[in-house]
Amino acid sequence: MKSNYIPVNEPLLEGNEKKYLAECIDTGWISSDGPFIKIFEQKFAKQMGRKYGVAVTNGTAAIDAAVDALDIGPGDEVILPTFTIISCILQIVRSGATPVLVDSDPLTWNMDVSQIESKITPRTKAIMVVHIYGLPVDMGPVLKICNKYNLKLIEDAAEVIGQTYNGKPCGSFGHISTVSFYPNKHITTGEGGMILTDDENLAEICRGLRNLCFQPNKRFVHERLGWNLRMTNIQAALGLAQIEKIEQFIQKKRDIGYQYTKLLKDISCIQLPLVSTDFAENIYWVYGIVLDLKKKIDSETIIKKLSQAGIGARPFFCPMHQQPVLKKMGFFSNQKYPVAERMYKYGFYIPSGLSLERSQIDRVAKNIKLIIKNI
Ligand SMILES: Cc1ncc(COP(=O)(O)O)c(C=O)c1O
Repeated sequence: MKSNYIPVNEPLLEGNEKKYLAECIDTGWISSDGPFIKIFEQKFAKQMGRKYGVAVTNGTAAIDAAVDALDIGPGDEVILPTFTIISCILQIVRSGATPVLVDSDPLTWNMDVSQIESKITPRTKAIMVVHIYGLPVDMGPVLKICNKYNLKLIEDAAEVIGQTYNGKPCGSFGHISTVSFYPNKHITTGEGGMILTDDENLAEICRGLRNLCFQPNKRFVHERLGWNLRMTNIQAALGLAQIEKIEQFIQKKRDIGYQYTKLLKDISCIQLPLVSTDFAENIYWVYGIVLDLKKKIDSETIIKKLSQAGIGARPFFCPMHQQPVLKKMGFFSNQKYPVAERMYKYGFYIPSGLSLERSQIDRVAKNIKLIIKNI
């Protein structure tokens, strides 16, 4: 029986998960050498329209390896959205490269691609796009810019597994693309991630980076600094079972999104996610809401009120230029990105996990209406 509390996310593990996990135990294959790893990599890469998949420990590690594999380092600049998770910027900063930020589009909440070209300098080496909350970045202009200036493209598709841009899978656009399999993602391995590419050489570099850069012939002699980012057979077993259900999962996410929109669309002074854009229909990784300034209530207040009603909710991302740790390091002083700042202050997301039930959606919507009415 479900408890009365509605968490912001709960995964759905109702397919072959138990069967494949039992196989790991029965055969004793629990490390990263087990057979599910390769099968999962191949199946997932194919699903995402890529030649190679390199399974790793989480989505952050996938981005770290992607940035390193492209030899990004001191003197290089990487353009990315300010409105994203800190995972995107960590290896850029640690490598000694310079992150260069762009603001968001106020409707899609994705990076405003019209701002990218003005940020390019002779030092720009790569653009990192991050598809936010279920709608893809407008990739057409980004691809044109990458071609025109000969830039590398890193694509963070963590939040859009199963989404497409003009019919082509998100995760198929970057020289290197990455995903996360954390339990709030469209498919989960508990913790996990994958690096995706069509470039055999880059795939080989990423396999090396994942495995401490051991060399095939001289195992303990290292030519490059790597990490231990190996995914286990147990995680891959989960992933394999999950991927069998991807279409159902996306449909369920869309149904949740449509239900919320139907129930919330008449409330004035709140902005809901777009149902679609010219190039995609939303898959609602999370169902985000941005409060209108006129309401004089910020996301922190409404999250507290929802919590008192037994409903989990989370704030939107804190933009990179407002991160204390990065400001202390001397980044982004006096830079302003008004759209992302507003989204952070007034944006929050409500329960939208795969096991959410219709009655819970109704309860969440009813409480939001009530809270806003009583302000
Ligand atoms: C856009 C994006 N990139 C990267 C990550 C990091 O993934 P992980 O939590 O698996 O490290 C997340 C996690 O939520 C994310 O939303």
